[in-house]
Amino acid sequence: MKIALYKESRAGETRVALTPDAVKTLASDGWDVVVQRGAGLRAHFTDEAYVAAGASIVDVASGDVNLRVNPPTLEEAAQLPEGSTHLSFLSPLLAQDIVKVLNDRRVTVLSFDLLPRISRAQYMDALSSQATVSGYRAALAGASHFDRFFPLLTTAAGTIRPAKVLIMGVGVAGLQAIATAKRLGAKVRAYDVRSAAKEEAESAGATFVKLGVTADAAGGYARELTDEERAQQQAALVSEVANADIVITTAAVPGRKAPILLTTSMVEAMGEGSIVIDMAADGGGNCELTKAGEVIEHHGVQIVGLTNPPAEMGAHASFMYANNVLKLLALFGAKGQLAPDWNDEVVIGVTVARNGAINHAPTAEALGVAHVAITPEVKENA
Ligand code: NAI
Repeated sequence: MKIALYKESRAGETRVALTPDAVKTLASDGWDVVVQRGAGLRAHFTDEAYVAAGASIVDVASGDVNLRVNPPTLEEAAQLPEGSTHLSFLSPLLAQDIVKVLNDRRVTVLSFDLLPRISRAQYMDALSSQATVSGYRAALAGASHFDRFFPLLTTAAGTIRPAKVLIMGVGVAGLQAIATAKRLGAKVRAYDVRSAAKEEAESAGATFVKLGVTADAAGGYARELTDEERAQQQAALVSEVANADIVITTAAVPGRKAPILLTTSMVEAMGEGSIVIDMAADGGGNCELTKAGEVIEHHGVQIVGLTNPPAEMGAHASFMYANNVLKLLALFGAKGQLAPDWNDEVVIGVTVARNGAINHAPTAEALGVAHVAITPEVKENA
């Protein structure tokens, strides 16, 4: 069967869903791989490298399995072969019109952001691999916008105190931001509403800020705070934020707009020359003042709205994404043939739609169509 690798059409994207090495693995497993011309160029993977790995280069990609990083546009979705399989970061609730087009074409729609967060699925967790890149880039953005040093320096020209960095949201990205800021020599404090985050932040080298607001939800995620909790959190954060030179925010709640952690008045209490790096800008931002893709200045504080930080590091972000794709595809087939194991909770969990029916309950509800859950097939003699 044929696997198609697409050139990403999102503005500013540099990533690609398969590297030449990943293509080589698939080709030697019996898959016919076609690569859209120039698909990997922005991550420094040439068409020649894909050909050497066993792929053919085409102007119009189309396969039984269609691989992307970003969701297809409506026009691209309408061109996918009927009954084929599609994999990307689809975020189905944010791409309902695209899900509808794909589902009408009976496409099996797989979305990385629905992958169950269980130990066995860590190898295929593209949300985590890309968040690792984002956290790293967020810390570097903090250092490069700041007009002072991060580390403690004792020099003949004077002693420099280390920068004070506050990380808000200690998920995968936040942990990588902590580790990166630490490596650059900053003093790092971190805050999250999940109780498990304390130990994780400390093991990455941060001092954990306890504010008395916890919001643990099912599956190890945070839940949305109530209005009262949010007010309590913001009041308790005022002095923490005012004391920080750089605030890096990475807070997210699955399926919801990013929570506001930094209000305008909190930013106004920060010192001249301080920096806010808002990694959640794509999801609406954690700071009231954030403008996605822009650097704005407010009362002497720069607020940087990062958009798609993994695209700033296309080569390694693609390397990690492609490894996740290989691991996930292994649950959907082998030896050049699709044969999903519909008894596997990871296979079921990552599937938005199949056979013209919606498996993901929130998407079915949003589209106003019947929810047809994939239930494990009862095996013969089982
Ligand atoms: P995320 O990207 O959904 O959110 C980032 C962080 O923001 C989270 O730590 C969350 O608690 C925090 N947050 C949300 N609202 C907040 C608020 N109002 N104030 C402060 N912080 C707030 O998180 P991510 O990175 O996807 O990780 C979520 C959970 O999933 C973690 O428990 C992580 O350990 C777990 N996980 C499990 C994996 C596996 O077992 N395969 C893989 C990756 C993550």
